[in-house]
Amino acid sequence: MGESMIGLKRSHRCGEISSELIGQKVTVMGWVQKRRDLGGVIFVDLRDRAGLVQVVFDVSTIGEDGFAKAEAIRTEFVLAVSGILEARSQETVNANMPTGTVEIRANEFRILSESETPPFMIEEESNVREELRLKYRYLDLRRPDLQRNIMLRHKVAQVTRQFLNDEGFIEVETPMLTKSTPEGARDYLVPSRVHSGHFYALPQSPQIFKQLLMVSGFDRYYQIAKCFRDEDLRADRQPEFTQIDMELSFVEVDDVLDLNERLIQRLFKEALDVDVALPLPRITYQEAMDRYGSDKPDIRFGMELTDVSELVKDWGFTVFSDAVKKGGSVRGINAKGCGDMPRRQIDALVEFVKTYRAKGLAWISINEDGTYKSQISKFFTDEQMDMIVKAMEGQPGDLLLFCADRHEIVYDALGNLRLELSRKLELTRKDDYSFLWVTEFPLLEWDEEGRRYSAKHHPFTSPMDEDIEQMDTNPGAVRAKAYDMVLNGMELGGGSIRIHRRDIQEKMFAALGFTTEEAYERFGFLLNAFKYGTPPHGGLAFGLDRIVMLMTGSSSIRDVMAFPKIKDASDPMTEAPGTVEDKQLNELCIKIDIIE
Ligand code: AMO
Ligand code: AMP
Repeated sequence: MGESMIGLKRSHRCGEISSELIGQKVTVMGWVQKRRDLGGVIFVDLRDRAGLVQVVFDVSTIGEDGFAKAEAIRTEFVLAVSGILEARSQETVNANMPTGTVEIRANEFRILSESETPPFMIEEESNVREELRLKYRYLDLRRPDLQRNIMLRHKVAQVTRQFLNDEGFIEVETPMLTKSTPEGARDYLVPSRVHSGHFYALPQSPQIFKQLLMVSGFDRYYQIAKCFRDEDLRADRQPEFTQIDMELSFVEVDDVLDLNERLIQRLFKEALDVDVALPLPRITYQEAMDRYGSDKPDIRFGMELTDVSELVKDWGFTVFSDAVKKGGSVRGINAKGCGDMPRRQIDALVEFVKTYRAKGLAWISINEDGTYKSQISKFFTDEQMDMIVKAMEGQPGDLLLFCADRHEIVYDALGNLRLELSRKLELTRKDDYSFLWVTEFPLLEWDEEGRRYSAKHHPFTSPMDEDIEQMDTNPGAVRAKAYDMVLNGMELGGGSIRIHRRDIQEKMFAALGFTTEEAYERFGFLLNAFKYGTPPHGGLAFGLDRIVMLMTGSSSIRDVMAFPKIKDASDPMTEAPGTVEDKQLNELCIKIDIIE
């Protein structure tokens, strides 16, 4: 049910009405946010994507019939309203509303559509259960905060396109139905009807195609590309997400970093009016690990790691000395001003690091009078206590926390402890944007389970020239021309300069334990392409969703996607994934045999 809008033309969006229009006739169309019936006068807040405006239905201007119709208005009805814009009287001005100084006195209106009572109120900061919100996502998306997020996302995509077009990039679409791509997550598979028993894989990224476009001579490619990865979901991960993906020919690392930091600078200026100073800080992977225990450090606060291995390696405390002897390390962080942290809270920190496989956490709190309180002081002489405190630059009132273990565990435990302390002590602000580049990632990663190396980024990433010699002798030590951009502890994007020489690509496959035949079976079309004149090339991909997430201060990636999936990768609204009819399965020659 609903009236026609024929003959009425919208003059402004609700939120665009301003005091400059006072005295003029305006026509708005939108949804009823709120309605108050004061008997003889009805006030309605009308909402569209631009905001709210107040409409007054007064018997004296709308007439008896109009007023009777206005009495039927309920929330979420869709109205078209024409009337004269008036200034509100002093006492009715609403300072919380951008249009709060004016109101439209309706002299004509139509109910374009009625609404059932929605399952939840359409309001900002709603605390409705997320599953319900996502079941009715089309209503959830009416909320002003989500509308702002989606519109900001649009802006980011548009500015990206403008910037890259101006820099000489060409937008090319790459296929969705393809073969497995090399990003290392599980693939989403699509069965082929024509080739029974065969499957397409949805791309985890356009990686291989963009490299082929360089072989084809397109020189600079970009795409705002959908990617699919069947991996466990987290607050910053979705099975289906969007990359700002690019590839460039005839470039080295600095060219890619320079271009992309300018893109980010432009995006933050145009979308948020935030100035990002360039060049962004650049630190190597090793430095990031040593200082922050993480390859995506949050550098908005200090509390950096200090290596005390050399100092303590011959002391009698075996927890420390054994860790160093076994090739690990002892490192600490100084939680400034936390010397008075109650024992119960320190114990919680000890439990916290255990979730990162640390066997324990040693602590020393420095009292205001310079004496120490510590569970390990009994293992040390007074002199040793002073030395370790000095090494940590400990001052009265500080809390020193140490972890002794294999390097990876020490980094992981202290890196995460650092973040945990920053959350507990509220050391960071969301609108403080601290970017950096992390460079020189290791080329390979040792996979304990498979007892072999795997590519840290992907198998086409180039080793650093000075490390190529070590590929046969000490592959684990080889650094790559790979880089990530990190913002406030989140990986925004990453990429690399690729291998364009066949001999090096073969060395890489050898290091990964592939035979040449296996390599050809998986990536043969790319390796063949490389035989026909390959320009040196490299690129990067940003997670578009993640950029918008950080720009909007959202705690979940779902709040910046129009139609996201929930934790188990399903969609409560469409109820995807679903079962299909036997006929479809038969056509695909697929038989379902669920193994419980
Ligand atoms: P990578 O795998 O690092 O590189 O992905 C690039 C960026 O994509 C984002 N991202 C995700 N966002 C949301 N949900 C996910 N599940 C998800 N996975 C990744 C991250 C990440 O930094 N082809 C290479 C790029 C290249 O080498 O040019 C690639 O895909 O922000
Ligand atoms: P233990 O000798 O195992 O009782 O450990 C002595 C103290 O050192 C305990 O208070 C532990 O919490 C702490 N500790 C144990 N293992 C480690 C470790 N790997 N790193 C830092 N501290 C530890």
